[in-house]
Amino acid sequence: MYIAGKHYRTIWMDSETGIISMIDQNALPFSFEIFEAKNYKETCHAIIKMITRGAGAIGAAAGFAMAQAFYEGARGEGRGTNYEKYTKEQLEFFVSSRNEIEATRPTARNLFYATERVYTAGLKSPEAAVNEAQKLADENIADAKRIGELGSSLITNGSRILTHCNAGWLGFVDYGSALAPMYIAKEQGKEFFVYADETRPRNQGARLTAWELQNEGIPHKIVPDNAGAHLMSRGMVDFVIVGADRIAANGDTANKIGTFEKAIVAKEFGIPFYVAAPFSTIDFSLMDGTQIPIEERSEDEVLTYSGPDSEGILRTIRMASPGSHALNPAFDVTPAKYITGFITEKGIIKSNELSRFIL
Ligand code: MRU
Repeated sequence: MYIAGKHYRTIWMDSETGIISMIDQNALPFSFEIFEAKNYKETCHAIIKMITRGAGAIGAAAGFAMAQAFYEGARGEGRGTNYEKYTKEQLEFFVSSRNEIEATRPTARNLFYATERVYTAGLKSPEAAVNEAQKLADENIADAKRIGELGSSLITNGSRILTHCNAGWLGFVDYGSALAPMYIAKEQGKEFFVYADETRPRNQGARLTAWELQNEGIPHKIVPDNAGAHLMSRGMVDFVIVGADRIAANGDTANKIGTFEKAIVAKEFGIPFYVAAPFSTIDFSLMDGTQIPIEERSEDEVLTYSGPDSEGILRTIRMASPGSHALNPAFDVTPAKYITGFITEKGIIKSNELSRFIL
């Protein structure tokens, strides 16, 4: 996507230096900054702190982090050598760094998909790990673009679409999942309107989706998370598109907390509810959504609010009753029966058809 006329990927890696650059999503929308992670531990930190976030971007970051671990573990000597030439200590380092990367954000399926592929490649050589991580990032873009092309058929002039969280290009390497159909529809000259749920507690909708839509010139309004039922009951929403963090084999879908409520309300009012995600987000090893691990995050995300004051200085204020604690599950699971269809790179598919695609 373009920022002030310059093309950016959300995250990228310099294959020579091993440095990963990423758009700092914590700084947005107030300032546009690039964060650099020089080693896999710094990349893990960036994932945990959500400097980079969103299922697809987390996947790319995890793949790059795994490649960095191979560079670091090989310490120069192992570069370009065969698997047989890694020492026992090096192999142990690759396993422990993989475990560390996988512990950063447990719900996002793309993270595990990426570490598996890059780890396997890295056993041949560190260069193979880097090549695989770069390939994953390119596939991430190609899948997202295709999701956009296929999903754009759902959008017509005058469509009013509701979305939750940020499943835009910041949440992928480019294009996004839920927002990709909107970007392609915009390119096709269609005129439509988007309601962006603010998405408490971290406000990815109010901060990131709104910033992306503004940047793309797509008319939109930020709505409180609890406005969905009102808007849908008044006939103000034609359909809903959300992203996904992990989809079980039966179509049950983990996505940002609050998604499930929107799906129930959409069904109540007969409004189509679509999930946009690549196949790399589907976990065919899980029969249903009860098995999806749900990340719990710090209570501070619920109890406090951060943003710049009138002088632009970043402040964090407490916004809840002192002494009270908070529970902060980051995702919920929407049962497949609420989902009208999955917008994937292979087509718009019903839940009961997903298993047809198991390799
Ligand atoms: O906790 P986050 O911001 O990483 O949440 C993940 C998400 O971005 C959403 O749930 C999104 O809809 C998934 S697809 C980018």
